[in-house]
Amino acid sequence: MRRVVYAALISALLTGSFAEAAVYKGQREFHKKCKKCHRDGQEIAYTYKRRAWKKMMKNKGEGLAELHLKNEKAKKSWKYFKSKKYQKKSKHLKDFMVEYAKDSGNVPACN
Ligand code: HEC
Repeated sequence: MRRVVYAALISALLTGSFAEAAVYKGQREFHKKCKKCHRDGQEIAYTYKRRAWKKMMKNKGEGLAELHLKNEKAKKSWKYFKSKKYQKKSKHLKDFMVEYAKDSGNVPACN
């Protein structure tokens, strides 16, 4: 098991940065799960500063889930925000959000 983790680490180091892979994964998750209600991921990311995102995505994305679970308008997302899948992906979502946060200095790319 350990060995597999090391192998993954080394290949990540060789092929580019870990962080970038996670940002990409987060973006992909956003496209799949959030886009039907939020047009643009980078725009959403830009709503908050990095620290706010980190706080929001702490404990497997608890804050973001709560925000949606409290809002009737977001009802269609409740199943997802309560799911294990969300908890698993919340880390990638966080990386994506932090990467494009208001104070990240990253200008959203057109895509
Ligand atoms: C079913 C629709 C729906 C889905 C799916 C959904 N959201 Fe939302 N989201 C909402 C609604 C409704 C609000 C409340 C804001 C409003 O009233 O306009 C909201 C609010 C937010 C806010 C707060 C924005 C602010 O102005 O403070 C963030 C950030 C956010 N969503 C991110 C996400 C992310 C990331 C995902 C995917 C993991 C997601 N949402 C999926 C409907 C949705």
